[in-house]
Amino acid sequence: MAYTVSQLLTQDITFQPIEIKGWVRTFRANRFIALNDGSTLQNIQCVVDFENTEEDVLKRITTGAAVHVKGELVESQGKGQKVEIQVNSIDILGDSDPDTFPIQPKKHSFEFLRENAHLRTRTNTFSAVMRLRSALSFAVHKYFTENGFYHMHTPIITGSDAEGAGEMFRVTTMDAKNPPLNDDGKVDYNEDFFGKETNLTVSGQLEAETYAMSLGKVYTFGPTFRAENSNTSRHLAEFWMIEPEVAFMDLAGNMDLAEDFLKSVLSYVLENNREDLEFLEKRLLDEEKTKPQAERSEMSLIEKIKFVVDNHFKRVSYTEAIDILRNSKPNKKKKFKFLIEGWGADLQSEHERFLVEKHFKCPVILFDYPANIKAFYMRLNEDGKTVRAMDILFPGIGEMVGGSQREERLEVLKEKMKALDIPEEELWWYLDLRKYGTAVHSGFGLGFERLVMFATGMNNIRDVIPYPRTPQNAEF
Ligand code: 4AD
Ligand code: MG
Repeated sequence: MAYTVSQLLTQDITFQPIEIKGWVRTFRANRFIALNDGSTLQNIQCVVDFENTEEDVLKRITTGAAVHVKGELVESQGKGQKVEIQVNSIDILGDSDPDTFPIQPKKHSFEFLRENAHLRTRTNTFSAVMRLRSALSFAVHKYFTENGFYHMHTPIITGSDAEGAGEMFRVTTMDAKNPPLNDDGKVDYNEDFFGKETNLTVSGQLEAETYAMSLGKVYTFGPTFRAENSNTSRHLAEFWMIEPEVAFMDLAGNMDLAEDFLKSVLSYVLENNREDLEFLEKRLLDEEKTKPQAERSEMSLIEKIKFVVDNHFKRVSYTEAIDILRNSKPNKKKKFKFLIEGWGADLQSEHERFLVEKHFKCPVILFDYPANIKAFYMRLNEDGKTVRAMDILFPGIGEMVGGSQREERLEVLKEKMKALDIPEEELWWYLDLRKYGTAVHSGFGLGFERLVMFATGMNNIRDVIPYPRTPQNAEF
């Protein structure tokens, strides 16, 4: 029977004829194959009877080759594994050239592996990261389904700028060299494919709001695109965002939901992906050893995840946070790149990380931000200057979640849009929600890759998505 390595290591099937297919990680002493098939971090050792195997076949068992092994599962003679396969026959399904195969059985830099992203999941680190990514994705759908949410697919091509930040990728079929022009010399988008200007979405929120106002509790989980030219370890031009939206829920309910959700998905991987987590924990520990003592984390990867699962997220208003930051050491000693002078300042990641990593030392939910540093759709507070926004900040990551209670009052929303030059015609359908049965409602967006970074301990967002898109890079 055909098995996966994972099955062989967990089922009680010794002394039965078995078959397995996988890729050779190493081949030692013309005898021991370490075989991996992606089903688990573990390799299975296949012991070849070299005296009864053709010379030509033995030569072709090289790192990277795909093979089909038939044999018997037996208790292992050697150390390091409980069982191994006594090989009866081996077929080479696909040869590999050991001289040019990029993934050698040694340590490679992450930069090198990014250039070979099509093969990097042949390594332990990247296979573990991507198995965890898959598990987290499942946990997201599980959480929402079990809590009465409907999954909706929001459009990827859109005619509106949800965040009003203008950092969008245009979608067009027009000839770039020779676009149709209006009489006044401007590009005539009426002639374009959709008869209007369209872009890749930066967020599914506005459409999710329409469904929340009928189905009650919904979420989207899809690709989002941002043409911001920020070459950092936490930004991608294409990333996946999870956005729940709930009718009749206020900002406090939104915070409760986000906290419960994050704890739930992280608990899921603690319970179900232990082997990969333990491997990544060791990797992180080795990496930390190369850093100066002061920069090393006090907690291991699993401890950090448990800490988040077990502790309340600290809820702090923007105004309180500004006070803390203004009086902080790095601000007084001018260590921040952007000094905090007073109320109204936008928080940079250095500030967010100070609050989370140095001051509170736990995840923090900041809320009630100044209206003018947040998006147009957020609910204006009674003070007239702050909005019911919340950001969740995580150690090592910074902003993990951004969300808000939405402005449900038609007139207030219209005024806000006018002040920001957002044409009503563009969002007539969004305004309709405020005309027909408007109600308090809230939601948030979680950058999925930032969650995967936190759960895997990887430091660069390019290493937690299969094929990262960043400025000047869209290979694969
Ligand atoms: O804070 P943001 O911009 O919020 C929104 O887009 C809202 N419409 C969400 C909502 O209320 N439904 O983005 C939400 C999250 C951020 O907190 C961050 O985790 C992630 O998306 N994010 C990015 N992740 C990777 N690369 C980027 N360029 C990102 N920009 C935002
Ligand atoms: Mg944000």
